[in-house]
Amino acid sequence: MIPLQVTISGGHDRSGRPERVRRLELAAGDTLAVVGPTGSGKSLLLSDIEQAAEGDTPSGRQVAIAGWSGRNGLGAVATLSQRTNFLMDTDVRTFVAVHAACLAKDGTVTAEAVVALANTLCGEPIRPADPLQGLSGGQTRALMIADIALISDAPVILLDELENAGIDKHKALATLSARGKIIITATHDPLLVLMSRRRLVMRGGGMSVLHEIDTAEAAWRDRLSGLDALLQQVRDALRDGDRLGPGTVSVPACSCCPET
Ligand SMILES: Nc1ncnc2c1ncn2[C@@H]1O[C@H](COP(=O)(O)OP(=O)(O)OP(=O)(O)O)[C@@H](O)[C@H]1O
Ligand SMILES: [Mg+2]
Repeated sequence: MIPLQVTISGGHDRSGRPERVRRLELAAGDTLAVVGPTGSGKSLLLSDIEQAAEGDTPSGRQVAIAGWSGRNGLGAVATLSQRTNFLMDTDVRTFVAVHAACLAKDGTVTAEAVVALANTLCGEPIRPADPLQGLSGGQTRALMIADIALISDAPVILLDELENAGIDKHKALATLSARGKIIITATHDPLLVLMSRRRLVMRGGGMSVLHEIDTAEAAWRDRLSGLDALLQQVRDALRDGDRLGPGTVSVPACSCCPET
């Protein structure tokens, strides 16, 4: 069996110029952040990967997915886009059971396990008996992430602006990483960017530069992670109706933050 590999061959940017990054290869376990200003082409790149483009999209890119048994990469990619809704008229438990059965799972992954994982990502807990269509936007996406992590076989995961999901975005990315899958995240969130090993900078619709995280950036990632934990605690305290003051939010001493 050939190892999993996604190969993106450059096409052209929005003005028809050849993309600077001519070839990008991703192997199992790789994480890639796709960054760039609004309208720079991040979502189109994800869509090119999702449909294994053959020069037939506005960018003219070619995407090959090797090491996967489905034809033309069919079923290789799971996508979490910004506009994601369940259409099935059933409850959470039945959805998980039906999806697991479709993928010929042996029943070892229970709805309870999927719901428990989803509940680590969202505020108000989901219950297995809840109707799918009654879930909030954040709960829906938390359930989809747990489903992708525990049930889906897809070896390539595309995440489009996870930060807008209304869930614990950093925990969500950490949950999906380290499962040997290829994870590609289009994002404006600096911590999500630095959580990926490489980042692809988009400009004018084209793949412009590819960077790899180095020691200095890893130190920035760790620092931002501490700040993010503080922000998360303050957010939780405020939305639980607490007041901020001595003893309300307990965080380790930090040179750039006020005493709490
Ligand atoms: N290489 C390209 N050639 C032609 N059109 C392109 C190219 N790249 C992007 N576009 C088009 O430009 C528009 C904006 O691109 P896209 O939605 O991918 O941007 P984005 O970076 O995801 O923006 P946002 O941060 O707002 O989500 C889309 O209509 C897209 O189809
Ligand atoms: Mg986009």
